[in-house]
Amino acid sequence: MKKINNKITLTSTFNLVLCLCVFVQLSCSQSRINTQRVSQSFNQDWTFGKGEIGSESEIDFDDSSWRKLDLPHDWAIEGPFDKKHDTRTGGLPIYGTSWYRKNFTIDAKHKGKQVTVEFDGVMNNAEIFINGEKAGERPFGYISFEVDLTPYIKFGQENIIAVRVDPKELSARWYPGAGIYRNTYLNIKSPVNITYNGTYITTPMVSETESEVVIETTIENKQNLRGKYSLQTSILNANGKVMAKSSIVVNLEKELIVVDKIKVSNPVLWDLDNPHLYTAESVLLKNGSQIDNYETTFGIRTIKYSKEKGFELNGNQVKFKGVCLHHDLGPLGSAVNYRATERQLEIMKSIGVNAIRTSHNPPSKEQLELCDKMGILVQLEAFDEWAIAKVENGYNKIWDEWHERDLRDMIKRDRNHPSVVMWSIGNEIREQRNKKGAEVAKHLVAICHDEDPTRPVTAGFNSYPQSIKNGLAEAVDLVGFNYKATQYDKVVKNNPNFIVYGAETASTVSSRGVYHLPVKNYDRHESLQVSSYDIISPPWAYPPDFETYAQETMPHSLGEFVWTGFDYLGEPTPYNGRDNETHGKWGGDWPSRSSYFGIVDLAGFPKDRYYYYQSRWTEKPMVHILPHWNWENSEHREIPVYCYTNAEEAELFLNGKSLGKKVMGVDKTTIPAEFSWWKKPQTTWESPYRLNWNVAYEPGELKVVAYNDGKAVAEKIIVTAGEPDHIELIPDRTEIDADGSDLSFVTVKVVDKDGNFCPLADNLINFKIDGPASIAAVGNGNAATTEPFQANYRKAFNGLCMLIIKSKKGVSGEVSIEASSNGMTNGNVKVFTK
Ligand code: GAL
Repeated sequence: MKKINNKITLTSTFNLVLCLCVFVQLSCSQSRINTQRVSQSFNQDWTFGKGEIGSESEIDFDDSSWRKLDLPHDWAIEGPFDKKHDTRTGGLPIYGTSWYRKNFTIDAKHKGKQVTVEFDGVMNNAEIFINGEKAGERPFGYISFEVDLTPYIKFGQENIIAVRVDPKELSARWYPGAGIYRNTYLNIKSPVNITYNGTYITTPMVSETESEVVIETTIENKQNLRGKYSLQTSILNANGKVMAKSSIVVNLEKELIVVDKIKVSNPVLWDLDNPHLYTAESVLLKNGSQIDNYETTFGIRTIKYSKEKGFELNGNQVKFKGVCLHHDLGPLGSAVNYRATERQLEIMKSIGVNAIRTSHNPPSKEQLELCDKMGILVQLEAFDEWAIAKVENGYNKIWDEWHERDLRDMIKRDRNHPSVVMWSIGNEIREQRNKKGAEVAKHLVAICHDEDPTRPVTAGFNSYPQSIKNGLAEAVDLVGFNYKATQYDKVVKNNPNFIVYGAETASTVSSRGVYHLPVKNYDRHESLQVSSYDIISPPWAYPPDFETYAQETMPHSLGEFVWTGFDYLGEPTPYNGRDNETHGKWGGDWPSRSSYFGIVDLAGFPKDRYYYYQSRWTEKPMVHILPHWNWENSEHREIPVYCYTNAEEAELFLNGKSLGKKVMGVDKTTIPAEFSWWKKPQTTWESPYRLNWNVAYEPGELKVVAYNDGKAVAEKIIVTAGEPDHIELIPDRTEIDADGSDLSFVTVKVVDKDGNFCPLADNLINFKIDGPASIAAVGNGNAATTEPFQANYRKAFNGLCMLIIKSKKGVSGEVSIEASSNGMTNGNVKVFTK
């Protein structure tokens, strides 16, 4: 494709507009186009039918009996849970052919325009039909794509779009969701337009006084409308003030990439504390009339990686305090939701997380938009599987035909996000043990560098030392290791060129509020829960402390990405049993059906590990103790009490009596560590990152006070609770937008008559909602239950459950929420939609 360069220097103070004619030859002029792009949500008013009879794509197919719904939609989360579905994918019906249909009209005045639909993601094997004709297809469920409907559109008349979705069983190692689960947009644009994902913005020169912004804009010419066009680009700061402008005239024949270089004076850099965003507004004109417009959000910042200093953002060393996140939103399933995504990131930020890894696939646009806004770094991952299968119907099926296009499209969509700081070409790919692995890796790295030379390429390796021996690790720019806390030293010593980090760490498993005594390591527990003393992990993994230690003693490691920030649907390790009924699939430990790896549970409630990481990653004084203090018939029994704090010392009090002070780093906690590969084989490890007291149990009040310089800086009290008495409802927000997608997450807490939290309560709670909102989902963080997520009831799990309510589009008002349960006083709260 042809590239045209334009270099313009502008200063923000003058707001100067320069026009530069690069090409003066006007070859031929065509029909005049003088309107700009229409781009609108295409989510409303679809019909949905499960199954297939064969004529669903046809115009006169009768879909009147089908369900009416708005997108995004994930049918699998509706359930029901069933052991016959693989529990790796959540024990939910993620497979089967389904159809979506929608009627729409494009005004006759748009005749001659391009009509396209953007799909941010369809899970999966999507085929798109318009007025009975196939217009496009896309097998990969995580990729965004645009379908050109123009040749089939009937302007001024009704059109029918039909989307066939055909996800297969055994297609993932986690819950993928099913359906048109991300947003859709309808575009009506000039045949000469800025193409889909058509801008690429880089900032090759950044200083405090000036920054060079390079904007590559791809202009497509769909109807051979050759001639002279002008492209105007304005750069606006976060307040909408125009900081610089440029204009370039081009002589368009076919498709063209226009390269514009604009200087911005005194740039405000995108940083973690001040994630300042600029907008580039691109306008395409023909004979002075605007024919297309396009907006790109970007940031001005520098990134650098080195062996000596690790990762630097704007010249400052930043260690990744990262978490891996799967794409599902817990009880809401995979259907993308802005607020639910924002809440996930807010919760992660509250423990000091500064980076996420989009394991193991391209994320939603919304997640990246939020990371840009919130100052969170992103490792953006493309694949969990290349040509060699991990699961029967995984990406391997389409690898040959699609991998290059998918990888290029992923980068094209996301390379303007300042939050994205590296591309990952794969996680634990099987090719690590294959001779051809390095060759494939080099090919993928070359694609990434071609689409975006500004970011390094990485991968997550679990096979050590095979991934080094066969050249795979050498092929990437940054070497990510999964669960190799003990190997970093050795790797760097033997491979002095490598820049390394923990692409996946810990994989500690626990269930919120569950404590099994005595504290010991085990593979499984008959309750299908996992004790929350934060010491249990599958054989390849380890407690969080080990990685903390490895990172502290390896100052130039880039940091770590903990597996995982949130519990996710599917992969219920350690309960991956198979039995006769499951025919080799997971499900033998039914109803265990979602993960235990999260720092917070599936409903978003913190587990104890939340406080572990908070104590390592934040500075505002905090202290936490575990377990709960409701041990019936256990007077005098010795209960280990663990404490996480970022303060210097902590003191424990039982019913007002001091049980002594302990000093962080000095008083260590012996944790069981039956890991043969740990330095030298051993059965215990002395963790300097937790304190502990063995306390002879007596009911009452357990209090911990944390001190810095001898001064109390934080405290926490746990009380032995009486019988469940009433329900407290605590919404995360009492005012939400009446836009049909905003959510309020209402924590439902069971308390005794004095308001003390009941840590073992499992009462069934019923919900009644009155007003302009509906129940989007319920949950409680229990990984081993088949209660539906879409219901007006939920059992508490260890004292808590979650009610998620969603606003109604365009209806403001008061929403009254009532929670009731046998034998308890109701809880009531109001939320307002505006
Ligand atoms: C890793 C894998 C993750 C997850 C994790 C659980 O090996 O990359 O996707 O399965 O194990 O510990």
